[in-house]
Amino acid sequence: MRILAIETSCDDTGIAILDVHPVKSAKGGVLPKAKQFDRVNRSKFNVLSNIVSSQIKIHKKYGGVFPMMAKREHQKNLTPVLKETLRKAKLLKKNQKSNMKSKKYISKIRNIENVLKKEENLLYQLEKFLQDYEKPSVDLIAVTNGPGLEPCLWVGVNFAKVLSYFWNISVVPVNHIESHILVNFLDNQKIEFPAISLIVSGGHTQLILVKGIGKYKIIGETRDDAAGECFDKCAKILGLEYPGGPIISKLAAKTDRRRASIKLPRPMINTKDYDFSFSGLKTAVLYKVRDQVLRIKDKGFIQQMCFEIQQAIVDVLIKKTINAAKNYKVKTIILGGGVSANKELREQLKEKIEKDIPDTKCLIPDYALSTDNALMIAITGYFNKSKKTTWEDIEANANLRIGK
Ligand code: KG4
Ligand code: ZN
Repeated sequence: MRILAIETSCDDTGIAILDVHPVKSAKGGVLPKAKQFDRVNRSKFNVLSNIVSSQIKIHKKYGGVFPMMAKREHQKNLTPVLKETLRKAKLLKKNQKSNMKSKKYISKIRNIENVLKKEENLLYQLEKFLQDYEKPSVDLIAVTNGPGLEPCLWVGVNFAKVLSYFWNISVVPVNHIESHILVNFLDNQKIEFPAISLIVSGGHTQLILVKGIGKYKIIGETRDDAAGECFDKCAKILGLEYPGGPIISKLAAKTDRRRASIKLPRPMINTKDYDFSFSGLKTAVLYKVRDQVLRIKDKGFIQQMCFEIQQAIVDVLIKKTINAAKNYKVKTIILGGGVSANKELREQLKEKIEKDIPDTKCLIPDYALSTDNALMIAITGYFNKSKKTTWEDIEANANLRIGK
């Protein structure tokens, strides 16, 4: 089975193509079909291409992501990214015969114009692409339909609708949070459940109990800012660029741990629940900077602030995750989302697991697959293939919740 996946939930335009083959048994036969909530994946993934076009350069200028601006960028990027993804997967073929005058073709184009009436930039490029190139050999289209920024989600969903309609390929909606969890199946044939997944991104901070593929329960989440949002807002206060996570982590690494003397709060670290709160940390950073206004240009002060901001966030995330893992007696801890690209979070979490609950496995995606990409959407589309539907029935939902 070949899946073409589309991701546009925030500020990354991603398209990937994934081949899925059944795993052969030792005797060469096909293994029995997996049950719905099985822990073993009886399929092998072969990534044909996975392209992400980041909009960071544009959003850097404005210090954050503005949804309407991100939407415009997705409109511009989607068709070139699709073309490049197909080319890389060796699936891009020029249309030899023109059928542009046929009645069927004209009525199809009219319908596309209807779907993309709010996406004019996209319409023009996509129409031309569909005229110039053949339908590729793809069995299923997967697209993120939520959660995320509403205008951005709709561009991706409408793009998927058009491809699904024009090429007559079914489409499966994918939950972005689930895909940050299931991306871990790429290199693991088997994941032991129950698991706890900590999903930390620019928009979400959730602890999810995972009893199997498709069996999720949110046991805790942030009551205000997400962890990534906290990194981004603190960076802004310190006069650093967007996105805050990578730059704070880079500057924090320049601080000698033994000399770090600034202290910031760890909100909710000792509460018995699994919820988080990061807005108090951001306010504490604001006050510290106001009190030390003369040091705002002092490199050492900024580096120490970065060190302490990162450590405060990491401490809270790890403490709650380990508590949850112990209480739910899980076999695996799964980390995901953009903030999981944070080196200290990855290393300190692994160390803590090794020390406190050494029998628990820890799964963390490659750095490139921690932040948003369409390969994770393809993998999740595969596991949800029974939910495939027609292009008319798919909708974006900015507030989509996992486990509902
Ligand atoms: O999952 P993601 O790519 O997009 C959303 O779905 O939000 O996450 C983006 C977030 C941003 O807030 C960014 O600052 C944060 O991930 N991030 C990091 C690092 N790399 C990205 N946070 C901490 N350390 C990093 N190295
Ligand atoms: Zn994400």
